[in-house]
Amino acid sequence: MAEKSKTKSDIKGIILAGGTGSRLYPITEGVSKQLLPVYDKPMIFYPLSVLMQAEIRDILIITTPQDQPYFKRLLKDGSQFGINLSYIVQPSPDGLAQAFILGEEFIDNSPCAMILGDNIFYGSGLEKELSKARNNAVNGYATIFGYQVKDPERFGIMEVDEYNNVLSIEEKPINPKSDYAVTGLYFYPKGVSKIAKSIEPSLRGELEITCLNEIYLKNELLKSTILDSGYTWFDTGTFESLLDASNMVKTIQNNKDIVICCPEYIGYINEWLSNEELSKRAETFNNNQYGKYLVKVKEKRKVYEQNRN
Ligand code: TTP
Repeated sequence: MAEKSKTKSDIKGIILAGGTGSRLYPITEGVSKQLLPVYDKPMIFYPLSVLMQAEIRDILIITTPQDQPYFKRLLKDGSQFGINLSYIVQPSPDGLAQAFILGEEFIDNSPCAMILGDNIFYGSGLEKELSKARNNAVNGYATIFGYQVKDPERFGIMEVDEYNNVLSIEEKPINPKSDYAVTGLYFYPKGVSKIAKSIEPSLRGELEITCLNEIYLKNELLKSTILDSGYTWFDTGTFESLLDASNMVKTIQNNKDIVICCPEYIGYINEWLSNEELSKRAETFNNNQYGKYLVKVKEKRKVYEQNRN
């Protein structure tokens, strides 16, 4: 494995990729939603690439018991991306905040980021915002990310003041106080498992992430970042949004001749993957656009290194 020059092991990451995916039946009757393609890569590559962009290298994948073997087959131990992957199951979809209870041993009292397996984030300033959230977590603050939506009644909604201080959070409000949805990306300081354990199940029987966030809000330890129109956010849980996400990725990639949310690329620029490791990976896909992009990434880096020497 390449030099760990940019490794910061002070924060862990979780991808919550269980759930039932019932809005996508019959597609998801036989396969997990997070393994479905979004244009040219499996859905889970997108949230994985967000955690990697936040320079998080130890990542726990939480799945349903029946789907775990397929995630392991796809993602293995993560070394092909220069990361360390662990896996556990969520026996039933009992809510997002349960991730921190199931993952307690993995988190090991570190700060921890969590992203939902069906969330896609894209925007040129994302890395900077992730870095801020990461620093907040290390310094004892939680961070949530807001995104303006047309149908706020469908989401957890955050009300913010002019300085983006969070004033309230409400789960699927009938009369929303704003149209900023709380997206499926959260950063917490150390101690999150203990706080998650103090939450009672809601009326729908779930450990709600909104309850967890409300605790940080009450203790004045909750920060927010609004992702403006320069960003794209999708929760790909419906037929429409799944297709829209694929079309968005295709358009961006074809216009710019790049592959977005590519874990190999991020592993390489984070110096977690060596030239040899990237080449080996590129050979696996040498008959398609994805593999050709990995070769190009390597060539770019070669030129960079030659210029430097
Ligand atoms: P949802 O979209 O709320 O639920 P779902 O994926 O089960 O889909 P549907 O509503 O169509 O039945 O979940 C958002 C993400 O969180 C998704 O990636 C699945 C994941 N999730 C879990 O892994 N465990 C849970 O307990 C819940 C509630 C969600």
